[in-house]
Amino acid sequence: MAIRTGPSKPPSPLGVLSDPRRWMLDADWAFLNHGSFGSRLRVVQELQNTWMSRFERHPVRFLDEQYLKPKLDAALAAVGRFLNADPAGLVFVSNVTDAVATVLASAGLSSGDEVLTTSHAYGAVLRAIEVQCSSVDATPRVVSLPCPVPSSKEVESIILSAVTSRTRLVVLDQVTSPTALRLPLESLIPALRKRRIQVFVDGAHAGGMLVKPFPKAATWWSTNLHKWGLAPLGCAVLWTARSHRARTRPLAPSHAHFMGYQTAFSWQGTRDVSPWLTAPDAIAWVRSHGGWAALRRYNAAMARWTADRLVDAWGTTTAGPRSMRQGVSMVTVQLPASVRRWKVPDALRDALANEHKIEVPIWKDGPRWWLRVSCQAYTRPSHVERLINGIKAIG
Ligand SMILES: Cc1ncc(COP(=O)(O)O)c(C=O)c1O
Repeated sequence: MAIRTGPSKPPSPLGVLSDPRRWMLDADWAFLNHGSFGSRLRVVQELQNTWMSRFERHPVRFLDEQYLKPKLDAALAAVGRFLNADPAGLVFVSNVTDAVATVLASAGLSSGDEVLTTSHAYGAVLRAIEVQCSSVDATPRVVSLPCPVPSSKEVESIILSAVTSRTRLVVLDQVTSPTALRLPLESLIPALRKRRIQVFVDGAHAGGMLVKPFPKAATWWSTNLHKWGLAPLGCAVLWTARSHRARTRPLAPSHAHFMGYQTAFSWQGTRDVSPWLTAPDAIAWVRSHGGWAALRRYNAAMARWTADRLVDAWGTTTAGPRSMRQGVSMVTVQLPASVRRWKVPDALRDALANEHKIEVPIWKDGPRWWLRVSCQAYTRPSHVERLINGIKAIG
């Protein structure tokens, strides 16, 4: 539901970070989908190439534990400072998909247990829950959240009333993928932990987007750094509470599997560790070229303005109230009813791409069609205007 407090203004572009030449994206496009796979600064590729060259000069020495472990520990410490997270609980993984599967396999699920999540969870996470549950005869339960979401209170009450004596694990999104909303973790996590239920927070969008993303009371938390953290592709972290470190292990056992939590994750066979080692360099580069606070402010202000502009243009609504969108760089807005003539959302998405060079994800929930706009430093009001014109022309 859109609670309007007067139209916002688009923010002024940032200096270097808003320069489209700094990004690897094709600048002819209105690329409004940073949220799916991120997009990379050119300089980050260069920083990563430096690590790759160092590796290739002497692969054996570089990957030898004696040399690699201190580098990974230093990278985890820097990333921990950036995320405001205790580095002793952090390990690198390739993406949140990897972290979810790891957590589900480490949660000690058994026959009769229930794993609870919401209908706003990411599709791939729902699949991972189904697969793990079916392998141990546990039950996945997906509690339905409305869209638009009326309030955090409503979300809290729906989730807590779905908990049963069999609930062993609850998977909560920090920022939901289809609806771009913050779930009320501050109240939900303590309420669930008090009932001795394990909580995994899917923070795929949190790192780099939110000011203090680390949800302290969770059992596990994972965030991508290749989305809003501007690290190379294949960079994410998993954080595990002290109580669960002894049982949390990578899915692919390797030499270090029995050598402690962080050591086990630091060696998962021969692999490219350059995305992980580059992350602190990318974070530092942004810090010295405008800074994270300015970047977050710009992205959130652009998302706020986009919400107002689209709601005005289409006479529709956002997927949730402004109070659930604080600091969020994406916004999900209902499309006008006329777009339903496209029958399938992907057909409309493809037409916007092919005819107008607009990249934006579209989905439907019964008769309502929604689209999610991601705002990153390169996003301009003109991109949003192109979307409005595109929908007017073909919607
Ligand atoms: C909420 C959420 N969880 C998990 C994922 C999976 O992230 P990845 O594809 O990097 O594994 C995504 C990806 O967009 C997401 O939005």
